[in-house]
Amino acid sequence: MPHIKVMPISKEELVSRAKKHSELIEFIAHSVNYPEALIGINYQNEQFLLVYKYADNEAMLKYEKITRPLKLSLLKEAIGNVANALGFDVLSSNIVNIRHKEPLFASKYFKKIEDFIDIKFEHKEIAIEVGFGSGRHILYQAKQNPQTLFIGIEIHTPSAGQLLKQIEIQGLENIWVVNYDARLFLEMLPSNICKQIFVHFPVPWDKKPSRRVIGDEFTSEAMRVLDAGGTLELRTDSDLYYEYALQTFSKLPKMRMHINKNHALPIISKYEARWQRQSKDIYDVTLFCDEKSDDKRDEFDFSFSDLRYNININEQLPQESQVFDEYFVHFERLYEIDKDTFLMKCAFGSFARPEHKYIIMNTNNCRYYPSLPIRSNSNFKAHKAIKELLHG
Ligand SMILES: C[S@@+](CC[C@H](N)C(=O)[O-])C[C@H]1O[C@@H](n2cnc3c(N)ncnc32)[C@H](O)[C@@H]1O
Repeated sequence: MPHIKVMPISKEELVSRAKKHSELIEFIAHSVNYPEALIGINYQNEQFLLVYKYADNEAMLKYEKITRPLKLSLLKEAIGNVANALGFDVLSSNIVNIRHKEPLFASKYFKKIEDFIDIKFEHKEIAIEVGFGSGRHILYQAKQNPQTLFIGIEIHTPSAGQLLKQIEIQGLENIWVVNYDARLFLEMLPSNICKQIFVHFPVPWDKKPSRRVIGDEFTSEAMRVLDAGGTLELRTDSDLYYEYALQTFSKLPKMRMHINKNHALPIISKYEARWQRQSKDIYDVTLFCDEKSDDKRDEFDFSFSDLRYNININEQLPQESQVFDEYFVHFERLYEIDKDTFLMKCAFGSFARPEHKYIIMNTNNCRYYPSLPIRSNSNFKAHKAIKELLHG
């Protein structure tokens, strides 16, 4: 990752030099407890942070993990420009050695979870595949149904990268790849937008059923996201998963499902081929969505409305993680921008997929930086807890 080692300058000098370049450097936030500062950057319409780590004989300017832009070339340029603007004496740098080729994850077919906050769906129809693995099935479906947008959601990053490569090689334009936990992803989608959700050969997790993709919440979110006439399609080789799915789906207040045993599909994944060689039974459970659902997306308000900077904030923030039933809140670090503006680094939300964000707080307002948390139930519950903790 790009970084530059420079001759250290004092905190005051850093702030005074930054002020002369306010179009590029929005603020400098000094850590209250650690020898580091965060530099708020606005470069090519992207807001993000760089880290400036102090040491006796050298300091380092580098990317910041949570807000890092996906385009490596943009990040590299920004670090170079900031180092020039701040007049740093550069001791060493890996910037010139950085590959110019954009990583696969800068592809327009790769979507970050935050993109779904206000994404526009322009395709006529939408289908989702959960845990696409090698991607054989989603690639086949996308070729057969060019009018449909296929959203593939996969938790395993190398598999997501492999599918992005195949999309490029095969010249497909109707697949989006999301590298995230499918159990939380559905919460980001509007109601009634989808015609099919495929869950093929989910990990059985027989010893830890709570980790299964399919669960009560996933099922009800799937029914909300599916349009009337849509289907949730489970295909599994696991007897236990099959029985568990029947039980889970049966808990819905109203439901209709269809079962097939050892029904061949036109495309076989590597995983399925293995079970076929072992003559294992394969079950298809199709759950039908017969009714439209209400749109409940606007219920989540991530503003801090009447919250203002409070001089005792440092003493007031709990040092320990605050753990609630299905979510947690942890204030990690506090940074001071000026005497009454603070930047807080926090982690919160679900245990399975925590959200990491900064919060800027001053005498006029309080907001998430650089963007709002994703609209999930657990993030919203955690947001309400953060508000209470900040109110003191
Ligand atoms: C057994 S493989 C099956 C892959 C593919 N569907 C097939 O039929 O060959 C299960 C896949 O689900 C992915 N997965 C597991 N849990 C997930 C989750 N919570 N969200 C998204 N993907 C998940 C795994 O990374 C893995 O690629």
